[in-house]
Amino acid sequence: MDASAETQSARERALTLLDSRSRERGRWTEPGYFDLLDDETAPESTGPTQDLMLTRLVPMVYERWWRPALGRAMKGVTGPGMSEEVRIARLLLGLSAGHTVLDVACGPGNFTRSFGRTVGSRGLAVGIDASPTMLTRGAHDLLRDRADNVALIRGDATDLPFLAGSFDAVCCFAALHLFSDPFAALADMTRVLAPGGRIAVMTSVRRQVQLPPLKPLIERGSGMRVFEHDEIVAKLQALGFCDIHQRVSGLVQFVGGRLEA
Ligand SMILES: C[S@@+](CC[C@H](N)C(=O)[O-])C[C@H]1O[C@@H](n2cnc3c(N)ncnc32)[C@H](O)[C@@H]1O
Repeated sequence: MDASAETQSARERALTLLDSRSRERGRWTEPGYFDLLDDETAPESTGPTQDLMLTRLVPMVYERWWRPALGRAMKGVTGPGMSEEVRIARLLLGLSAGHTVLDVACGPGNFTRSFGRTVGSRGLAVGIDASPTMLTRGAHDLLRDRADNVALIRGDATDLPFLAGSFDAVCCFAALHLFSDPFAALADMTRVLAPGGRIAVMTSVRRQVQLPPLKPLIERGSGMRVFEHDEIVAKLQALGFCDIHQRVSGLVQFVGGRLEA
């Protein structure tokens, strides 16, 4: 079957989840992602780490080398590897066949593609990211894998273009600490979740060994925010999540919860 025809239905289904303004404003790009941003509306960089995501080189090596190596450094030698991370995400999200799942700050779609396989042909996985180079790589990999139930959108993760209650599950791995206002972003992820839907977040966490004065130095040098141990859990509770689970591994935390029905 023609690969572009295969992706057609995922594209059409993804567009029905967008608010009408975004649907009219955006356009499908040649690589195969729907673009909602331009120089004016692209989110401002929060520092060097985010700048790297816009280069051509990092998306080329991201999935195979960059993410596993950096993840290992952050999670520690006994922390979960990449396939275990995917498993953690799937479990926290309670993903099953037929679900509609959003991958926020999806990068090249390394998790999005795996979610697509889990939700199957009746389900849909949508990835959103601000980096055109990441999404170009991601669109290429979708065609290679003939992933006919995955769509990629270029948009701002802190101002999601989707209608309220559109998704059964929302994932945000390795990105919340890069956002200018991560708590507003969590609130927006909650808005697009259906009642009873699940969220899964993997982000930074401050450990006791990191003395408080080090925190601003790390944050300023990298542009990555370091969250206090209970900050994300408390925010999810305040947003109406229950069944909250937190697992800390090295300098990162995995947090999941279910939105009260
Ligand atoms: C380290 S990658 C994470 C990719 C993937 N989720 C993973 O776990 O490997 C972080 C991604 O966040 C994206 N990003 C950062 N700020 C963003 C924003 N405001 N809106 C959309 N994407 C953003 C970057 O472009 C980059 O692709």
